[in-house]
Amino acid sequence: MSALALITGASSGIGRAYATRLAAAGHDLVIVARREHRLRDLAASLSPQVDVQIVVADLATDDGIDDVAAVCAERPLTMLINNAGIGHYMPITELSVEQARELLYVKVVAPALLTRAAAIGMKSRGDGTVVNVAGMLAFSGPADASKPGRALYAGTLALAVASSQTLSVELEGDGLRFQVVCPGIVATEFHTVQGMDLSAFPRMSADDVVSASLRGLELGEVVCAPGLEDAGLLTTVFEAQLAAFAGQSPDLASRYRES
Ligand SMILES: NC(=O)c1ccc[n+]([C@@H]2O[C@H](COP(=O)([O-])OP(=O)(O)OC[C@H]3O[C@@H](n4cnc5c(N)ncnc54)[C@H](OP(=O)(O)O)[C@@H]3O)[C@@H](O)[C@H]2O)c1
Repeated sequence: MSALALITGASSGIGRAYATRLAAAGHDLVIVARREHRLRDLAASLSPQVDVQIVVADLATDDGIDDVAAVCAERPLTMLINNAGIGHYMPITELSVEQARELLYVKVVAPALLTRAAAIGMKSRGDGTVVNVAGMLAFSGPADASKPGRALYAGTLALAVASSQTLSVELEGDGLRFQVVCPGIVATEFHTVQGMDLSAFPRMSADDVVSASLRGLELGEVVCAPGLEDAGLLTTVFEAQLAAFAGQSPDLASRYRES
C-alpha cells in the first residue's frame, strides 16, 4: 500500500512543511486549506511523481468539515495530520461568538470528526497514523496571569493531548498510532494573522517542528515536544496526573466535610 497523507492547514507554516517533507519521502498527498492559490503553489513545488489532491475547505463550517471527512473516509489514508489552526488570543469577554465558534470548530470539531472518519478506514486496513498539532500552551493551565487571553485556545490544545493519549491506547491493537505535537513559538503566519509581531522572540522553524514529529514517530512518542530538551519532565507530568486520577475515591474528601 502506498503512503497517502492528508494534511489540514497545508497552505502555510507547519502544514506546508509537513507536505514538503512527506512528499520528499514519497507520500502522496491530500492538502487542505481555504486559500486555493497557496495549495496550487505548493502542489506545483512538489515532485511530479507525487500525486496531490487539493481540497479547498473551510474547517470552521459544518460543510467544510463534512467535505474533508468524506475524503478521509473515501481515500486509503496512511496518515492524517490535523494541523489547521488559529489562535484568537484575547480575553474571553472580548472574544466574539463568531471567533469562539471558529476557534472551537477548527481546533476541536474538525480534528475530532476527521479523526473519526479516517480511523474507521485505518482500523479496517490495520494501519494508520494520526498526528494532532497542538502546542506547549496545553500545559499552561496552572501558569500565572502573565499569559492572558489564551484560555480557549490553550484548552483546545490540552484536549488534543488528552484525546491523543487516550486514542493511542484505545486503537493501539488495531494498528493505529497517535501523536500530539507540542511546539512553543514557531516562525509561521500564526501570530501575524492575529496582528501580532513575535519576530523579536526566539522562534523554532516549521521544518524543525516537522523533524521532531517524524523522528518522534520513529521513537514511538505519543507526546512530542520539539523544544523540550528534558523529555523526562513530561513523564513527571503524566505520572502526577495518573496519581491524582488513581487517588480519587467515592468518599467525600475530608476537607469538604463540615467541621
Ligand atoms: N506558530 C506557532 O507559534 C504555533 C505554536 C504552537 C502550535 N501551533 C499550531 O500549529 C498549527 C499550524 O499553525 P502554523 O503555525 O503553521 O500557522 P499558519 O502559518 O497561520 O498556518 C495555519 C494554517 O491553518 C489553516 N486554517 C486556518 N483556519 C482554517 C479554516 N477555517 N479552514 C481550513 N484551514 C484553516 C490556514 O490555511 P488557510 O488560511 O489557507 O485556510 C493555514 O494553512 C496550528 O494548529 C497551531 O495551533 C502553532
